[in-house]
Amino acid sequence: MTSDLIQASYIAATVLFILGLKSMSSPRTARRGIIWAGVGMLVAVVATFFAPNMTNYLLMVIAVAIGATIAYVAAKRVAMTDMPQMVAIYNGMGGGAAALIAAAEFMHPTTTSASFAILGVIGALIGSISFSGSMIAFAKLQGLIKKSFLFPGQNIVNLLVLAAAIVLAVFVTLQHTGHLTGPNGLALGLFFGLSLIYGVLMTLPIGGADMPVVISLYNALTGLAVAFEGYVLGNAALIIAGTVVGSAGFLLTQLMAKAMNRSLGNVLFAGFGAKGGQELDEAVEGSMKEMAPDDAAISMAFGQKVIVVPGYGMAVAQAQHKVWELAKLLQDKGVQVKFAIHPVAGRMPGHMNVLLAEAGVPYDMIYDLDEINGEFPTADVALVIGANDVVNPAARDDKGSPIYGMPILDVDKAQTAVVIKRGRGAGFAGIENKLFYADNTRMVYGDAQDVASKLIAGVKKV
Ligand code: TAP
Repeated sequence: MTSDLIQASYIAATVLFILGLKSMSSPRTARRGIIWAGVGMLVAVVATFFAPNMTNYLLMVIAVAIGATIAYVAAKRVAMTDMPQMVAIYNGMGGGAAALIAAAEFMHPTTTSASFAILGVIGALIGSISFSGSMIAFAKLQGLIKKSFLFPGQNIVNLLVLAAAIVLAVFVTLQHTGHLTGPNGLALGLFFGLSLIYGVLMTLPIGGADMPVVISLYNALTGLAVAFEGYVLGNAALIIAGTVVGSAGFLLTQLMAKAMNRSLGNVLFAGFGAKGGQELDEAVEGSMKEMAPDDAAISMAFGQKVIVVPGYGMAVAQAQHKVWELAKLLQDKGVQVKFAIHPVAGRMPGHMNVLLAEAGVPYDMIYDLDEINGEFPTADVALVIGANDVVNPAARDDKGSPIYGMPILDVDKAQTAVVIKRGRGAGFAGIENKLFYADNTRMVYGDAQDVASKLIAGVKKV
């Protein structure tokens, strides 16, 4: 294959990546988008085998075989709730690969051009941080690291480590005229070591529940690192795909932070989000009023409109199939059923959309916050399934609340709010929720899947 054909293949792969990404922006076309992006990756990998001066075919085949096998088995086995840590691992590998390309280039330079050295070292710094940071994010989400490490002056220590890595980066860049061996090789090793340590230090204090935002940021950084190394390798596919991933990642990070009403700085440096799931001591006036599943079933079956609000608890309980069965039964009884999805319900972007799609809920029954909020006053029942923060009126009414300003689903405006949760467990923000004490709220305690089964049985009896 001539060099022109290879470049053409890379451009074709890039077009497929971009089309794939565009399709992923809607649940209807997301599956097709994944396939296009996958085909694009296949084209890029095959084209690389025909690159000039390529000799390491055996190593390449072994690497592709190992990577493909691990990815296939892992993707088949991973539970939907474990998806964020899977993304963290894959993302980290991308950053690590970009850093390794830079390391190889610095140890055996193919050019002495200053621009190559500068972009290469920036890519190496970002890629290394993204790699080690993503590994810590994985360990936290997987429960391998349970604590958040906070100590006085932490941000200053982190800043010093980053500054030292940058000084070494400048040194490495200046030495790029020859092979980096001897003392220069030591500087290169130290540069990578400090960059990796910075990724670890930066991620350790961040609470496990904030990890999706951090992973999205690392995703963006990996994209950037890949784009820089694409420049070093003269590979158009890497440059364009890396830039697209980088900008998409930054946009997603911003959107997630905005939907939580937090700044990115607050997510990264405030040590927030380490306390999800705890029991609460806070006192709220009023009492929670319990309702039996049968009574909840009756109030829904005799209503005209039910809006279902799923949250993190539905994902934990894997209740989506039962919930859809319940919705279909209600529809059969002439009840209008709609699903309301908050942008940060659950623990990753699109978490609820993916679960509902997996259960078979049609897309035209699923509504975003802006589309559905005006409809709550006309709903006989708002059925909240394992959601907490995203329906907390404090975000709307209480200026002193840590979540004040976060847009919420106006569940409290429904005629009756029926809330399924196991007990008095807090949501991710670790704060009380007055919705649960409101006069028009009824609590149905239990695991979301068990309660959904009981509601199904109850509706069948009506
Ligand atoms: P949360 O506020 O986390 O509340 C989940 C509730 O589900 C808990 O109060 C818990 O109460 C209940 N629950 C847990 N397991 C359950 C089970 N098996 N059955 C029934 N209920 C169960 O969830 P949310 O309303 O979806 O809000 C998401 C939060 O995560 C937001 O604060 C958001 O900012 C944050 N966050 C989201 C993202 C993205 S991108 N989605 C990323 C980072 C952070 P019990 O223990 O009493 O059952």
